[in-house]
Amino acid sequence: MTDMTSAWTRFDQAAKGAAQVRIDSLFAAEPNRLADMSVEAAGLYLDLSKQAWTRELMAAGLDLARAADLQGARARLFGGAVVNASEDRAVLHPALRAPDGADFRAKGEPVSRAVEAGRAAMQAFANGVQSGAIKGATGKPFKSLVHIGIGGSDLGPRLVWEALRPLGSSIDLRFVANVDGSDLAAALQGLDPAQTLVVVVSKTFTTEETMANALAARDWLSASLGQDAAGSHMAAVSADPGKCMAFGLAADRVFAFWDWVGGRYSVWSAVGLSCAVALGWPAFQAFLAGAAAMDSHFLSAPFERNAPVLLALAQIVNRNGFGRTARTVVPYAQRLRLLPSFLQQLEMESNGKRVDTFGQPLTRASAALVFGEPGTNGQHAYFQLLHQGTDIVPVEFIAVAHNDEGPAVAHTKLLANVLAQAEALMVGRSEAEVRAELVAKGLDAAAIDSLAPQRTFPGNRPSSLIVLERLTPQALGALIALYEHKTFVEGVIWGLNSFDQWGVELGKSLAKRILGELEGGAALPHDPSTTSLIARFRL
Ligand code: F6P
Repeated sequence: MTDMTSAWTRFDQAAKGAAQVRIDSLFAAEPNRLADMSVEAAGLYLDLSKQAWTRELMAAGLDLARAADLQGARARLFGGAVVNASEDRAVLHPALRAPDGADFRAKGEPVSRAVEAGRAAMQAFANGVQSGAIKGATGKPFKSLVHIGIGGSDLGPRLVWEALRPLGSSIDLRFVANVDGSDLAAALQGLDPAQTLVVVVSKTFTTEETMANALAARDWLSASLGQDAAGSHMAAVSADPGKCMAFGLAADRVFAFWDWVGGRYSVWSAVGLSCAVALGWPAFQAFLAGAAAMDSHFLSAPFERNAPVLLALAQIVNRNGFGRTARTVVPYAQRLRLLPSFLQQLEMESNGKRVDTFGQPLTRASAALVFGEPGTNGQHAYFQLLHQGTDIVPVEFIAVAHNDEGPAVAHTKLLANVLAQAEALMVGRSEAEVRAELVAKGLDAAAIDSLAPQRTFPGNRPSSLIVLERLTPQALGALIALYEHKTFVEGVIWGLNSFDQWGVELGKSLAKRILGELEGGAALPHDPSTTSLIARFRL
């Protein structure tokens, strides 16, 4: 097997070669380009042929994956080995969506029966709330559900709910993440405590924001229903069930998951309980099945036909081959508008690292910034920079082939726009063409000299397209699992641990210190700027 150094050298050389050719010219130079660079996986279609890679560069990327022993790393992940070494944990989110009867083991210990029992408890609760068999303290059924959590305990469920909401029951599901009181106030507005269920979700059950919101929500329930009744209007999801019970919840209102489920990979666990309740169990189960289909694809497809591997390699080409520092993800589907926020945590918390799993500095750049807005909205905001800015920002477009919501003509317009944007980015518009048009309009030479460069599009800007036939629970499950595995593949190639997040700790502990000062505690040493701001906020 090639070693990593030689694989990177080959990759760098291939990237230099690819930089010399325009993307659009490669379709003629490489007759099988579209077939080789597009793939069907778990009901999704990926077209990576408008990326700035040649066949040689793609092959060099595949070599990198082999040199990094991606196959072994994948086997260790699915085999429940300690993949998250800095926290001494297995990483087994695929176990959560595997069909009944699977046999996953975390650090050698069987987990699949516990997963099945957890799913059964979720299903019973979801069905009970939906049918009205599980009621509030006054005997009325629950009409609204307030999900309290942050980061991985919020972004996944929020995305799932927004995406699949048309399948939802009559339950009004609302989310609260921010410790800013405005968030909880907005979520509770207009709700009747007697018909509201509050679900507190926190892997650790110590996160400041979530605990503050949980206490405030409990006070809101107690104020109108009385302290004793508040508990029957709450449920909790955590990897530390003892803490939920210490908070005052009955055992049958506590839904556990495990330390081998990373927060940002947890939507498949009881963290998805609110969605299971509001969407109904069949939809949640289909969501799990879609992810399981992507797991099977990731495990079995050869690397050159493997969607997560190819999507990761396209990003490695952009990041390490061409030095791109950002990527924008643009879902041409309003219901996927929260996907970029979800991906920010998934990719930037997972792979925003500067040292490898041995604590040594990385030799190559790791995660890029990811941002995005739904199309076509983004077109009217930041796409100017994508087309004509001095930086090249690779784009990942997502399109949904069929949508039954709204007039058909609107959906056709949406699809026309996504295709047009990808084409415009790649092909551009030459100065010669612009000049000819201005001449035909009768402009004088001086005006043409000034206007033509401003109206020219350089093109040669890379993009990928991911197509969902319909925004079904299965397709959404497959899409999220695709991104999870893509993130993992990148982490393996960069040699880092995608499953810890030490970088969030310092801010948390400093906030605790400063909180004490803001609440009247003794002043502690800070830089002059922070000291002066603390004094200002204490007033
Ligand atoms: O601060 C980051 C983080 O630890 C994330 O990794 C996690 O998803 C989020 O906080 C919430 O944590 P918890 O689920 O323990 O409340």
